Amino acid sequence: MNATQLLDVANEFGTPVYVYDETKIIQQYKRLKKAFGPLDVKLHYAMKALTNTNILRIFNKMGSGLDAVSIEEVMLGIQAGFTPESIMYTPNGVSFQEMENAIALGVMINIDNLSILEAFGAKYGNSVPVCIRLNPHIMAGGHANISVGHIDSKFGISIHQVRHIKRIVDHYGILVTGLHMHTGSDIVDADVFLQGAELLYDAASHFPDLTFMDFGSGFKVAYKENDYLTPIEEIGSKISESFTSFCEAYGRPLELWFEPGKFLVSESGVLLVSVNVVKQTTSSVFLGVNSGQNHLIRPMFYNAYHRIENISNPKGMKKLYTVVGYICETDTFGYDRPIGEANEGDVLAIYNAGAYGFSMSNNYNSRRRPAEVLFRKGKGYLIRKRETMEDITRNEIILD
Ligand SMILES: Cc1ncc(COP(=O)(O)O)c(C=O)c1O
Repeated sequence: MNATQLLDVANEFGTPVYVYDETKIIQQYKRLKKAFGPLDVKLHYAMKALTNTNILRIFNKMGSGLDAVSIEEVMLGIQAGFTPESIMYTPNGVSFQEMENAIALGVMINIDNLSILEAFGAKYGNSVPVCIRLNPHIMAGGHANISVGHIDSKFGISIHQVRHIKRIVDHYGILVTGLHMHTGSDIVDADVFLQGAELLYDAASHFPDLTFMDFGSGFKVAYKENDYLTPIEEIGSKISESFTSFCEAYGRPLELWFEPGKFLVSESGVLLVSVNVVKQTTSSVFLGVNSGQNHLIRPMFYNAYHRIENISNPKGMKKLYTVVGYICETDTFGYDRPIGEANEGDVLAIYNAGAYGFSMSNNYNSRRRPAEVLFRKGKGYLIRKRETMEDITRNEIILD
C-alpha cells in the first residue's frame, strides 16, 4: 500500500483506522514456508497478534493452523472456519475447567504446568493426546516483557523437571504427542532457536509417542531502515538440517511446527491517524493525534519503535516532531522524529501496526476503538466498524 492508497482509505473510512494489506500477509506466510525448503513446516498463526475474522480466514484459506491462548480465541478460530484439529491451545495459568472446555471442543492442548498435567492424567489418562510446553531457560527476545523462556518466566515446565513430567506421564499413561517451546519475541539470533531445539531433542528421548515438535516463534521484522531482523532463511536451513538429523535418531519423521504472529501480520498493518494539534512548547514540537495508547500501546508498553510518515505531505521538508496521543497519560508514539512538515488535519501513517495493535486496544478514557479495513486487490474494505458510544456502555447496568 503506498501513501496515496493509504490517504484514499483515510478519506473513505475516516481516522483513526487500522488498514491491513492482504498481499503482504500472503507473502510473509509463503516466505516462511519456503525458508524450510523441502521440509513441510506446519505454521499455526498466533492469532493473538490480530484476531479479526477476515484475517483468520486468509490464514485458513492458505492452510495455516492457529495458535490460540484462551478459550475465547479457540471459539473465535472455530467460528472463523478452522477445524478443531488445526488449533493448538497454549494457555498459561488457566483453570482446569477451561482446559476441559478446550478438550471438549477437540483442539490440541498444550500443558505448561505440572499440577494441570496431573489433573489431566487423572481425568483423561491416555484418551486425549497432549503436548507439553517446556521452558528451556534461554534468555531471548527484544524486551524483558516479551522474553518468556528464561528461568524466572511463568511460562512452561522447566526443562530440568522432565523427570517430574515422566513420573506423572508414566503413572497415568498420558499420551504425549508433542513438545513445545516459545522463548520470546523479537529474537534476532538464529542460534537461539538451535540452542532451544537441541534441548527439546534431548528431552524427546523420554517421550516415545511424539508426532510433532513446536518451536514457537519470536521472528523479528524490520521496524526501521537497516534494522536487525531474524534471518528467516538462515533459521530455516539450519533448523531443517538439525531437525532432519534428530528425526533420523528418533527413528521416524515428526512434523515441525512454528506459531508466528508478528512475522506474518506486523508489516501488513498501518494505523492512520489525523493531526489534531501542532503544539510548540519550550522544548519540543508535538503533533497531537486523534489516537493514543488506547489504540496502539506497544511504544509505551515495550518501548517499541514504529516508523511514522506524514502521508498528507510525504515529500515535504522534514521537521522534528514528537508524536503524541490524546490520552490523559504520556502516550508518545515517537520522539523527535523527522516527518514531512505537518499541519493540523494531516494524516499520519504509523507503520508495523498489524501485530498487537488492534488486538491490544482498549477503551481507556472512554475512547472508542478504531475501525479496521482490509486492503485487497487495490481496494479497501471495511472489516470492523468504528465503535460507537453504545458500544462503550453496552454491558453497564444502571441502578436506580
Ligand atoms: C506461545 C506463543 N506462541 C507464539 C507467539 C507469537 O510470537 P510472535 O508474535 O513474536 O511471533 C507468542 C507471543 O506472545 C506466544 O506467547
